[in-house]
Amino acid sequence: MTGANVKIRSVSHTFTGTKGATEALTGVNLDVAAREFVVLVGPSGCGKSTLLYLVAGLTRQTQGTIEADGKAVDGPSAERIMVFQEAALFPWLDVRSNVSFGLKSTGVGRTERARRIDEALKLVELDQFAHNRIHELSGGMRQRVALARALVLKPRVLLMDEPFAALDAQVRENLQQELQRLWTANTPTIIFVTHDVREAAVLADRIVVMSHRPGTVKDVLPVGLPRPRAVDDHAVVDVAKRARDALSTEVKWQMSHEWEYE
Ligand SMILES: Nc1ncnc2c1ncn2[C@@H]1O[C@H](COP(=O)(O)OP(=O)(O)OP(=O)(O)O)[C@@H](O)[C@H]1O
Ligand SMILES: [Mg+2]
Repeated sequence: MTGANVKIRSVSHTFTGTKGATEALTGVNLDVAAREFVVLVGPSGCGKSTLLYLVAGLTRQTQGTIEADGKAVDGPSAERIMVFQEAALFPWLDVRSNVSFGLKSTGVGRTERARRIDEALKLVELDQFAHNRIHELSGGMRQRVALARALVLKPRVLLMDEPFAALDAQVRENLQQELQRLWTANTPTIIFVTHDVREAAVLADRIVVMSHRPGTVKDVLPVGLPRPRAVDDHAVVDVAKRARDALSTEVKWQMSHEWEYE
């Protein structure tokens, strides 16, 4: 199974709550090619998570269309899976049971399930920890469990919302390397959100810079560097600087208007 292409057309989203309406996204247009690795950066609150939820089919956009391989996204699917900043794992289950959990409801047979779980645990190098409980694992290992749990479903689109943000720099770098390797081996389409422009430059085929809220695509930076990349490669640092420049006016705007959110 390989990645699906994603077409986002004139997508806007407004949340309506008890405090009134919040316009989160406006007129977002973005095409992500099959097997492409796109990284979204943008000021806090500009709608990055919202956009991932829409592509995942967990939230329905108020305007516009989203298609995966030409089919309208109209609900959640095992083909489009989200990975969050906090790995929402079951602490009382072991690693293997956490990874197998989502597979049980997909109708995949027992033998194939076991094979896929073994494969996913190997991919994230957790095969030695299959029977450890979650509370015995470090933060980085937990995040790898979350990644395995997503990979085991063989998603065609992986939606990653700041998956490494809560980890220390060393662990984060290791996981960035691991993700590059995994992606090369499995090639799902990936849409990845981060606040870290270096991380964006290490991982992305293209960096998509979003504007302040209501978020829209402000800039697209093609990266075009050979892989694997490291955070301190000169070329990576250069790309990260360009992304930061593109972002800075948006972040400044957002900060000077923060009072509007109260
Ligand atoms: N369920 C919701 N109900 C109401 N408003 C929401 C909801 N989810 C998000 N919002 C609002 O929509 C806007 C965009 O939120 P979103 O979480 O997508 O931003 P973000 O870019 O992911 O921010 P961050 O970088 O801080 O994670 C914000 O103003 C937020 O408060
Ligand atoms: Mg977010």
